[in-house]
Amino acid sequence: MADHAEARHGADAGAQLSGPEAGPAPIEAGRLLFAQPCTFLRGAAALAHLPEGDLPEIAFAGRSNVGKSSLLNALTGRRALARTSNTPGRTQEINFFDLGGGRLRLADLPGYGFAEAPKPKVEAWTRLIRAYLRGRPSLRRVLLLIDSRHGPKPSDGQIMAMLDDAAVSYQLVLTKADKPAAAALDECLARTVAVARRHVAAHPETLITSSETGAGIPELRAALAEVALPAAG
Ligand code: GTP
Ligand code: MG
Repeated sequence: MADHAEARHGADAGAQLSGPEAGPAPIEAGRLLFAQPCTFLRGAAALAHLPEGDLPEIAFAGRSNVGKSSLLNALTGRRALARTSNTPGRTQEINFFDLGGGRLRLADLPGYGFAEAPKPKVEAWTRLIRAYLRGRPSLRRVLLLIDSRHGPKPSDGQIMAMLDDAAVSYQLVLTKADKPAAAALDECLARTVAVARRHVAAHPETLITSSETGAGIPELRAALAEVALPAAG
């Protein structure tokens, strides 16, 4: 997968993959940031329980089962920091993590678009996710995860429209890139980039990742190091 991403980068740099992964220095900054301790801060099932918004924050958002918690684990190099599961609806609160002793806060969100869960639960999660995403001034970027086997779905479009409206910047990240064949992954990337272009608050770069193989993880760490506070001293 890493080869595949690099091949794309070489062939079509700028249009689809560009930015922090270009040079070794940002990659190294990302590596150093995510080599620091990451600790669970708290879970919030209601807005009243959010931690203070005093640090730059990144949120992992996306449909249920897209791989949000797995991506957070892959970034931090910890297998079970955030709980993952085959069963959609694993993450039921907004789980906050501290990275590097106050350099960056990471928020693992419950998934949306999960039709099988009890309706009141789904509605409560959806309300919480939307209220959090819209009203969190410390939120620097939302990583909006899209399953690379499926591409963007209508429920993703609704969240993107809401984020456009609230002027919250977000970046599309394809997950599970180890699953589709190369041609299908190419097609999904092209489709996803085209969707991103139609949204004003979407970052121009769509990243391709696999929590399974580690593809795209150094590049995503580099992107997040750009919004983290500098190391003390
Ligand atoms: P909810 O919290 O329920 O919304 O799910 P989530 O988005 O946090 O997904 P989670 O990380 O729990 O992963 C869901 C399933 O997908 C698990 O069985 C993971 O092992 C699997 N998965 C996640 N990332 C990858 C990946 O990169 N490759 C493969 N092959 N499987 C993955
Ligand atoms: Mg989860």
